[in-house]
Amino acid sequence: MGQAKILVVEDENLVARDLVNMVRTLGYEVTDIVQTGEAVLPSISQNPPDLALMDIVLKGNLDGIAVASVLWEEYSIPVVYITSFADDLTFERAKLTEPFGYLIKPFEERELELTIETALYKAKMQLLLKEKEQWLSTILKSIGDGIIVTDSEGRVSFFNPIAQKLIGWSESEAIAQPLEKVFKSKGISPLEAHSKSPELQEMILFSKHGQEIPVELIITPLPEAKGQEGGKVIVFRDVTARKKAEKEIQESWARLHRTLEGTIQAISTTIEMRDPYTAGHQRRVAKLAEAIARELQLSASQVEGIKFAAEIHDIGKIYVPAEILSKPTKLTDLEYTIIKTHPQAGYEILKNIEFPWPIAQIVLQHHERMNGSGYPNGLKGDKILLEARILAVADVVEAMSSHRPYRPSFGLDKALDEINSNQGVLYDPEVVKACLKIISNNKFSFD
Ligand SMILES: [Fe+2]
Ligand SMILES: [Fe+2]
Repeated sequence: MGQAKILVVEDENLVARDLVNMVRTLGYEVTDIVQTGEAVLPSISQNPPDLALMDIVLKGNLDGIAVASVLWEEYSIPVVYITSFADDLTFERAKLTEPFGYLIKPFEERELELTIETALYKAKMQLLLKEKEQWLSTILKSIGDGIIVTDSEGRVSFFNPIAQKLIGWSESEAIAQPLEKVFKSKGISPLEAHSKSPELQEMILFSKHGQEIPVELIITPLPEAKGQEGGKVIVFRDVTARKKAEKEIQESWARLHRTLEGTIQAISTTIEMRDPYTAGHQRRVAKLAEAIARELQLSASQVEGIKFAAEIHDIGKIYVPAEILSKPTKLTDLEYTIIKTHPQAGYEILKNIEFPWPIAQIVLQHHERMNGSGYPNGLKGDKILLEARILAVADVVEAMSSHRPYRPSFGLDKALDEINSNQGVLYDPEVVKACLKIISNNKFSFD
């Protein structure tokens, strides 16, 4: 340690002088020689030592043992006791102050040096450890999550301020209690849940006053010590605010959904008033398109988008004069050309509504065909949205199997023949396959 500074506390002059000589001979600096316990503190505030050599029995009211604990606890100065005798009681008291060394007079220079060096080293290590512990404890205390540590018997050994705030137990109440008493959960206990899945998990906790708190927690086992099972570290956080926000989002989505449904319904009803054929057609097409989409295992959201698009897919027909729509005889080329404007007209009506699905595009593309022979843009293959390819098949099957003002029904079989023989040419083969499957398995009916 080089030039360590030593304070000598000894009430016998002669002994003190010998001791100081020995200490100096060993190369240490002596900061002061004091004779009473009371004189120690003023001395160290003047010239702080690295270590004190202290007679246990001193004149005055304070003995060496009382002074030693203050020196270490408050000033981090280690003490080596020096005494000519030690009765059991004194020894027991001295032990309680965790002496850094113990010398019984008379002793040799070498023995003194060894004791001083050992004491200085021990003190240095203990201070380092104390510093690390404080560092760790400051981190654990300032972390925004609740932290509870248990010992190997499952009793609480650490409980940070956030844990106290969250579950209402104070640190002093919680320490040494069994974990289940302090950390009560609804249903499965946290440790049991952890042994099944050590991942981040959610559960409902009960505060000290019985209030339910949704938390997210992770449990980490502490390293095992000498073959014994270690304790656990439980880190948890209150997710009430997040749960509330999630619920609000869900509710607002449900509201938006109802609004959408209502809007689609309103559009559909408007069409129905003017053109009952188209309205009924759209409803049945929507039913079949939805069933095909499910058979193709599309996501719930996609299925819904297809259903909504189908329910209004011929909305553009409101631009077509009613006489043409309900004409009982064959259409002229001009009339047919007018009818063919309805996908584009539907697109124009819907394009500015921000649906969560590409409804306007699906409506625009529902008369496109795989080989590019469709209208209005002659799109081919997968340039046509899957939703529109599904809608196209459902549209044809429904239209052919229903009566129209200008023709009787061809019947369902004829409709299925049409899509079957034109799969890959006009219609998406996967969609046709799904449609044939659900109809032939009797999984579907228009009514
Ligand atoms: Fe159409
Ligand atoms: Fe249609």
